[in-house]
Amino acid sequence: MVKLIVAIVCCIVLTTPMIQADDIYTSKYDNINVDEILKSDRLVSNYFQCLMDNGACTQEGDLLKKLLPEAIKSDCAKCSEKQKNGVEKVIRFLTENKSDLWKQVVAKYDPEETYSQRYLEKLKKAKV
Ligand SMILES: *[C@@H]1O[C@H](CO)[C@@H](O)[C@H](O)[C@H]1NC(C)=O
Repeated sequence: MVKLIVAIVCCIVLTTPMIQADDIYTSKYDNINVDEILKSDRLVSNYFQCLMDNGACTQEGDLLKKLLPEAIKSDCAKCSEKQKNGVEKVIRFLTENKSDLWKQVVAKYDPEETYSQRYLEKLKKAKV
């Protein structure tokens, strides 16, 4: 019995920090102003080049590159509300205004289009 308790406590102690770190993406960049970025063709282009490994990445670009594939796959399950809004804004913007860029991003990060299709359907529904 004591052994079992020790084992359980060890497990909890060992896994807790990992769960927390993995639970929600860093909020360090929660204050990125997505609207500001989307308004600027230059910034959009910079982020796009970063995503496609064609250009230098800012710190934010690096983060986006890490988050985007997983966010698409998991419906942004680990995003904070703010990040979720940001990601949805970006995806809406890209699909509506920059569909050529969106296609290239999808081709690179979701070649089967499984996740992006699902995401778009969700966005469509959310709009109605
Ligand atoms: C598309 O671009 C226009 C003009 O820049 C902008 O006003 C609009 O909000 C954009 N659409 C989306 C979904 O962001």
